[in-house]
Amino acid sequence: MSTNLNGKGIKNSIAELAILGGSPAFDKTLHVGRPNIGNRQRFLERVNDMLDRRWLTNNGPYVQEFERSVADLVGAKHCIAMCNATVALEIAIRSLGFTGEVIVPSMTFVATAHALQWQEITPVFCDIDPVTHNLDPRRIEQMITPRTTGIIGVHLWGRPCDLEAIAEIAQRHNLKVLYDAAHAFGCSYRGRMIGNFGDAEVFSFHATKFFNTLEGGAVVTNNDELATKIRLMKNFGFVDYDEVIYIGMNGKMNEVSAAMGLTSLESLEEIVAINRRNYRQYQQELADIPGLKLVTYDESEQCNYQYIVMEIDEDVTGVSRDLLNKVLHAENVIARRYFYPGCHRMEPYRSYFPHAGLLLPETEALVGRVMSVPTGTAVGSDEIGKICQIIRTTVTHGVELQQQLLSQKFALSNAPVMAAKL
Ligand SMILES: Cc1ncc(COP(=O)(O)O)c(C=O)c1O
Repeated sequence: MSTNLNGKGIKNSIAELAILGGSPAFDKTLHVGRPNIGNRQRFLERVNDMLDRRWLTNNGPYVQEFERSVADLVGAKHCIAMCNATVALEIAIRSLGFTGEVIVPSMTFVATAHALQWQEITPVFCDIDPVTHNLDPRRIEQMITPRTTGIIGVHLWGRPCDLEAIAEIAQRHNLKVLYDAAHAFGCSYRGRMIGNFGDAEVFSFHATKFFNTLEGGAVVTNNDELATKIRLMKNFGFVDYDEVIYIGMNGKMNEVSAAMGLTSLESLEEIVAINRRNYRQYQQELADIPGLKLVTYDESEQCNYQYIVMEIDEDVTGVSRDLLNKVLHAENVIARRYFYPGCHRMEPYRSYFPHAGLLLPETEALVGRVMSVPTGTAVGSDEIGKICQIIRTTVTHGVELQQQLLSQKFALSNAPVMAAKL
């Protein structure tokens, strides 16, 4: 079902597409992950109070309140706020004693792998389930060697991993489990909030996430001992003014970030409601396009709906994901090919493991067909309608579009010859 939109920027024919010379549908660029911002006044009040207090960082009152609020929301015992999720992953990895090899998906943001490699732990890339886009438990066991010490699952797009299967494998092989829950704040699995699974879970509150603290992240765990260790490690290992008992680093969250987090928490439901509305609109408007499939969420669970991800089957649409991406960029819609080309095809992993792709057929196929489009509070219903119409026009007239692009290219490459003949 398509929206019957009339007006500026509605592209009903390919001749109107910017890639063929039409004017872009949007004057300003639309981005994936444009920040959601809570009540500005509340945020500024908090920042003012912070300046009056002159307590800017080092476990300030906002950080303490933010940690309690996140732990309460998730229903977990401990939340340790950090400066970002990459550092939180690094500290969690270290505190869990991971060494040797750790199994991770390649279909993730590169920080998941980097957090291991940074500490000279080898990320062993495991294939995913093409339906869930998460680690395929059937493949995990094949990747275990005597050097394996752990598994890092990623709840991609906020959709939980197969938590029971992973727990069972980990128990059988005596492995620790960490979840990269960068996408999954506010999501649940069988009624239990993400943040309660594995040995620990890591959230990202980066500006592009649906809930942000400018930059930020957190480790959440129900393990008291681990929480104590992580808390010390994120503060150089200090237990007292002059006493250090672990190697540590500076992973602290500052007070401005925590003020932003506390303010955004007050708008959390509103942001999720907007994301859900946007998701439903995309779902409705793209439903009947053959070869185009929207990644769906289990609405019986809590979801944050922060990613609108589509899979494009070129064999059916006749249009590749990359062409559709270019069409959208020309219209000032900066769609993203998350997480192309997969960590295993990025450095240093590409050089270390040049043949990793042989064991990652589903990952290799998926990175070629996924695309994320803008959502969040910065995107309105009219804009989504226009984006969907651009996609519909492109896919419906894909063959014709490709022919026209080819003839344009041909005309351009022959332009000097033609000019010489005239
Ligand atoms: C899956 C995943 N892991 C880790 C990160 C790193 O998060 P941060 O930017 O907070 O360091 C991201 C961030 O964008 C991510 O998408």
